[in-house]
Amino acid sequence: MDSSRRTLLLRGAKLMATAAASQTGLLENLSLLAQSPAMPGMQHTQTATSPAGSSVPSRPWLHPERLARFVDPLPIPQPLAARETRPHPHQTGVQIPFHRIAMRRVETRIHRDLPPCRIWSYGNSAPGPTIEARKGQPTLIEWANKLPAQHFLPIDHTLCGAGRDIPAVRTAVHVHGACVPPESDGYPEDWQTAGQSLTALYPMQQDAATLWYHDHAMGIERLNQYAGLYGFFLIRDEQEDALNLPRGKYEIPLAIADRFFYADGQLHYPESPDPEAPWISEIYGDVILANGVIFPFLNVEPRLYRIRLLNASNSRAYRFTLSNGHAFHQIGTDQGLLPAPVELRELMLSPAERADLLIDFSTLAGTEFTLQDEVRAIMQFRVSGATDPEKPQSAVKSSGVPAFLRKVDPIPESAAVRTRTFTLDEYMHPKSHVMLMLLNGQYWHDPVTEKPELGSTEIWSFINTTQDIHPIHLHLVRFQILDRRPFDVDDFLNYKKFEFNGDAAPPEPNERGWKDTVKAHPETVTRIIVPFEGYTGRYVWHCHLLEHAANEMMRPFEVVAPSKQA
Ligand code: C2O
Ligand code: CU
Repeated sequence: MDSSRRTLLLRGAKLMATAAASQTGLLENLSLLAQSPAMPGMQHTQTATSPAGSSVPSRPWLHPERLARFVDPLPIPQPLAARETRPHPHQTGVQIPFHRIAMRRVETRIHRDLPPCRIWSYGNSAPGPTIEARKGQPTLIEWANKLPAQHFLPIDHTLCGAGRDIPAVRTAVHVHGACVPPESDGYPEDWQTAGQSLTALYPMQQDAATLWYHDHAMGIERLNQYAGLYGFFLIRDEQEDALNLPRGKYEIPLAIADRFFYADGQLHYPESPDPEAPWISEIYGDVILANGVIFPFLNVEPRLYRIRLLNASNSRAYRFTLSNGHAFHQIGTDQGLLPAPVELRELMLSPAERADLLIDFSTLAGTEFTLQDEVRAIMQFRVSGATDPEKPQSAVKSSGVPAFLRKVDPIPESAAVRTRTFTLDEYMHPKSHVMLMLLNGQYWHDPVTEKPELGSTEIWSFINTTQDIHPIHLHLVRFQILDRRPFDVDDFLNYKKFEFNGDAAPPEPNERGWKDTVKAHPETVTRIIVPFEGYTGRYVWHCHLLEHAANEMMRPFEVVAPSKQA
């Protein structure tokens, strides 16, 4: 079939062979884009077809608006305590905490009025158990794949790394934001199939932060994460301890993820109309889960809470607000504490981004309001009426928001030894409307072109030629955002001319800390500055819209030992 994605990929591969073989840069990309079938300005066709058209009889959909609201309590993913220790693999005589986490098919409650939902989990629910680690304390985790032999979501075998010749069920656990040796990072091709397991070492030589873990198996990570394979991984340190932030029941990890369901409460992952190539470019589920539950409520006391918010969706970005207009403070980003709290009434998070928040309910006793995405309710907060009589209101208030959090020194551009420039591209086949996404016009299997030296600092500059925000994530490292500057996409795509058409904007106040995922805005050049620290070896960087990453918007990079002359 001429219009199949595979044919398109092959055709596209030929077209780009020259550019991919050379050291790519801005100029090569100009000619590449001019020859490519890119259609600037083209919007995605949001496909959400039912299984109708295939031989499967169509099942009725769940209509979330018909469900009772705020009848289920918000589940809090339980912290996992390490009960065992094991010898450190590289340090004789040192015992370190050891966890064993199995991935299994389980049933979980997503709403009071729905039957249990079949999911895949690292525990009993999604998010899975919360892993707690301390800076400086290496930790071992054995990840055991005890999943069924067959997948229950639609695999697209035409995608890279998802062929029919390999096991359908594969997992590769990645701790997003962790600085770990390559063999423990969950490289997409280093997967385990049902019955296998892998023990990974997490050295934890990094600052306190809200990390998370999720599946990363090549070609099916979007299905595995959608099935429920994600959870929180919190790192604490002394600097954070000293701030005396809300702990225990006043600290809430909160993962937001959208899904589609059938009326019987089972997960549905939408498919393209082509049963041979069911991949679709993005999904925007009509149900929004908070810690795995539809429209939950949380009883809170009129005091300060710490909410660690994670966007665990495949594609959907959120614009979070509180329905009563109440302001809150962001104290941390993906990679830990900001220099100082940032007051917000609205917070935008793309997939994989985290925001560490302080919400002060002390002036809201006896009220109810919702956390919403724009105007759409996700969950409800119910603030109890009275403060603890032992503690006067003023005392509660005074354990307030710290004025200073930690020092974050901006890295000067002069610290960078080189700048790499990448285009973020979407190619739409004019007839089939099948799309693929690429980083710098290169495919996953093209030779590794990014080989930063360990200990060096580089600027990475992303030229987003599309209409989408692509959240770009680099494994292993943390980075700072330098700026974002709009450019003329039509000139660039059609006339090979590169011109900025606006001023460079500094990162938003709540982005002025360490990040590991950056929103690359449409028709904008986004620049980050990255110290490559930690380990040598092969890692990946990719768009964190999981549907994009599965269709070639992911590339390897390799950190190499510093060269001798220097
Ligand atoms: Cu959140 Cu490559 O991962
Ligand atoms: Cu993308």
